[in-house]
Amino acid sequence: MTVKTFGSSADLAREAAGIIASVICAKPDCVLGLATGSSPIGTYDELARMHREEGLSFARCTSVNLDEYKGLSGTHPQSYRFFMEEHLFSRVDIDRARTFVPCGTADDPAAECAAYDARLEALGGTDVQLLGIGPDGHIGFNEPGDAFVKETHVVDLDPTTIEANARFFASAAEVPRQALTMGMGGIMGARKIVLVASGAAKKAVLDAAVSGPITPRLPASILQLHRDVVVLWSEN
Ligand code: F6R
Repeated sequence: MTVKTFGSSADLAREAAGIIASVICAKPDCVLGLATGSSPIGTYDELARMHREEGLSFARCTSVNLDEYKGLSGTHPQSYRFFMEEHLFSRVDIDRARTFVPCGTADDPAAECAAYDARLEALGGTDVQLLGIGPDGHIGFNEPGDAFVKETHVVDLDPTTIEANARFFASAAEVPRQALTMGMGGIMGARKIVLVASGAAKKAVLDAAVSGPITPRLPASILQLHRDVVVLWSEN
């Protein structure tokens, strides 16, 4: 695991976008594993700029997102499909038919999760997976627990996650209590992983994930077992 520290979140975003752009340039029909939340927004801004000003093309890429709130449709402003549309898809030339986000309103969420894994397998996994980290050490919405979960699954969100994500909703009461998330099998199957985190509040959990014990109590610690992870960190 390589950890790189940046003086600003703008520098961090440039580095993250540069890594993703290199993957796209080397393999224009690559599979991008994408994340939501505040951490990757700067990276998406930079990728959109590279598309606009430097001709970086997503036309042949496929994208697979990590997670979606259960119960929110893609038109809900706080859904992760909506987020992706706003921060990346509408700003680049990606083919919407090749953008995948778990469906939060599926009639049969278990079947949706199984189909998501089948799709990921058919795609051959992701070439690069972008990650943030939650205050409780989650990646995707793999929350702390007794065991790592391999498959895409429906998860009960941890109270810490509900509290942290309340800032995007009118109140904590409106934050969905469950989500569909890619499991550790999908995340660890990525050929390259880029984790972005900024702000002093994330420092302790990030340090524990990078150099503490590997435990499902701190889900991001599993990344220590992956052979190509870069952690990009900035204090602000
Ligand atoms: C979102 C996701 C989450 C976030 C994490 C950090 O797709 O997978 O793991 O990356 O909750 O969120 P922010 O960046 O908002 O602190």
